[in-house]
Amino acid sequence: MIIIKSESEIAHMRKPNRVVAELLDYMRKLVRPGVTTKELDTKAEAFIIKRGGKPAFKGYHGYPATICASINEEVVHGIPSNRHLREGDIIGIDLGVVMDGFYGDAARTFAVGKVDETSLKLMEVTEAALYKGIEQAVPGNRLYDISHAVQEHVEAAGFSVVRDFVGHGIGRQLHEEPQVPNYGPPHQGPKLEEGMAIAIEPMVNEGTWQVKVLKDGWTVVTADGKRSAHFENTIVITENGPEILTRL
Ligand code: MF3
Ligand code: CO
Repeated sequence: MIIIKSESEIAHMRKPNRVVAELLDYMRKLVRPGVTTKELDTKAEAFIIKRGGKPAFKGYHGYPATICASINEEVVHGIPSNRHLREGDIIGIDLGVVMDGFYGDAARTFAVGKVDETSLKLMEVTEAALYKGIEQAVPGNRLYDISHAVQEHVEAAGFSVVRDFVGHGIGRQLHEEPQVPNYGPPHQGPKLEEGMAIAIEPMVNEGTWQVKVLKDGWTVVTADGKRSAHFENTIVITENGPEILTRL
């Protein structure tokens, strides 16, 4: 069942999602050659606590950290470590915050210093695909209109969308129904209604869409070792169209 949020529930959701947006902006400023993903994680946790929230991912199915930090061929769920970022890397940072019982969730991919042309294009296309999907999040459309718009944009650029992981409903839980795939036929799936809140999160690979999970049980990497990018926003569907809760 897809939970329809009331005006007051939506008001509650704005807070954790605002913190997520601000923290991602702070992370963007910290990302540079030499920094470790563990340092980013420590700063992220302190930021969330100072703002009166709690990290949403820490402890979720045993996940050990505040952020997911996925470098280059890592798609999602990279665990922060003592690895130093290097010039030319790209890093996806995904994070969630819970406040007063409501969740916020978003991700961005950042360039570490100067990166190659293909990586730049991969990031641009992934972010643009996210916004193509968001545009479809209007009452009366169907869920897979979002999925289809993402897929079309990505594949037209010559990249591929990850199938094994999807976006999701969000609210009093990090993951609610429905699942929001980044691929699929248009005009199908449940009708979108005012008051639905979803996290749309394209994961886009330079090469094959196929992925595998590393032995740590979390880190998802591309099967061919080529790079991947990830952008995510939490949005709520209003009568006027999508309201992006994780944008500054
Ligand atoms: N944005 C991802 C998601 O919504 C991150 C979850 S990572 C986990 O699924 F650590 F919480 F599992
Ligand atoms: Co998510």
